[in-house]
Amino acid sequence: MKQWVADTLICPKCLMTAVPLTLTIRNERSGDIIEGDLNCPNCGSQYPIQKGVAVVLPHKTRVILDPKNSYNAPEVLSAYLWSHFGDLLNENHATDAYRVWSSHLPSSGGDALDVGCAVGRLSFELGQKHDHVIGLDTSISFIRKAREILNRKQLAFNLITEGFLTEPRNYCFDESWNFETVDFIVADALALPFRPQTFATVTAINLIDKVPHPLKHLEEVNRVLRWQASAFLFSDPFSWDPGVAPPERWLGGNGNRHYNPRGIDTIRQLFSGKYGVFDPPLTISDSGDVLWKIRKTQNLWEHITSQYLIGQRP
Ligand SMILES: C[S@@+](CC[C@H](N)C(=O)[O-])C[C@H]1O[C@@H](n2cnc3c(N)ncnc32)[C@H](O)[C@@H]1O
Repeated sequence: MKQWVADTLICPKCLMTAVPLTLTIRNERSGDIIEGDLNCPNCGSQYPIQKGVAVVLPHKTRVILDPKNSYNAPEVLSAYLWSHFGDLLNENHATDAYRVWSSHLPSSGGDALDVGCAVGRLSFELGQKHDHVIGLDTSISFIRKAREILNRKQLAFNLITEGFLTEPRNYCFDESWNFETVDFIVADALALPFRPQTFATVTAINLIDKVPHPLKHLEEVNRVLRWQASAFLFSDPFSWDPGVAPPERWLGGNGNRHYNPRGIDTIRQLFSGKYGVFDPPLTISDSGDVLWKIRKTQNLWEHITSQYLIGQRP
């Protein structure tokens, strides 16, 4: 974890009092902390930094790091690396979805947070127009890979063809990619370890239907997004799943009839200030669909329409 990230972190268990974490460094390489700890002087929680990866998760959430978590599986890593970087690799049928999402954001400067960043492509795109970018995800396998790409300025992985058959893929990033100001941590969208109003831009792409408490996720975005001169890029296919969140917490799909039947309409209402989540409210400056693909094997694909909204505060 880069040292500038440590300056932004607070304890995810003490969000109400925004207690900064204190850093102990055991091994550091050119501003990158390889081994160390982050400690909360208030509740005594300790968050490890191991092999460069900071895990800023409350203890009770750390079960998520289990290799059995589907987002830590090797086949899922191959699928997401293709999905994020397939256009750079000149793959047949690749989309440039992450470039498209990023292109809809205003050029803001300031700092950006990419919540549920997976292997980091959107964070790298955000790095082109922000002072600093932090990508976070609960998948340790994704964050390790994103940091490997960052440190080597190179992408190398085995793309699954079928079963155990794989083909190597490689890509070198040139100097036009600004990686110095980007970093990745393991953290939870439902307990973002940052002070209120830290970020000029927050992005949350294809995440809301993957968290157990969708409204809490948006409350956390509201907490860390600046009250002025800021933007929130939201996008999702709204594939609600009772195995992820109980239907009464869904923001659409008639899981909870308090909300609109269509998730995107509920999100529009939330942006406008309804339900008291976004305060100050967000003005929608852009909306539409982004076509996005996940390639599982050579013959198995998911074609996804992700509905996006850009909400801005003047
Ligand atoms: C459908 S994927 C989308 C990833 C990425 N945003 C994209 O569009 O390619 C959902 C991502 O959210 C992550 N995730 C799930 N629950 C999370 C949570 N509570 N906090 C942070 N990330 C989470 C998963 O590990 C996964 O990387």
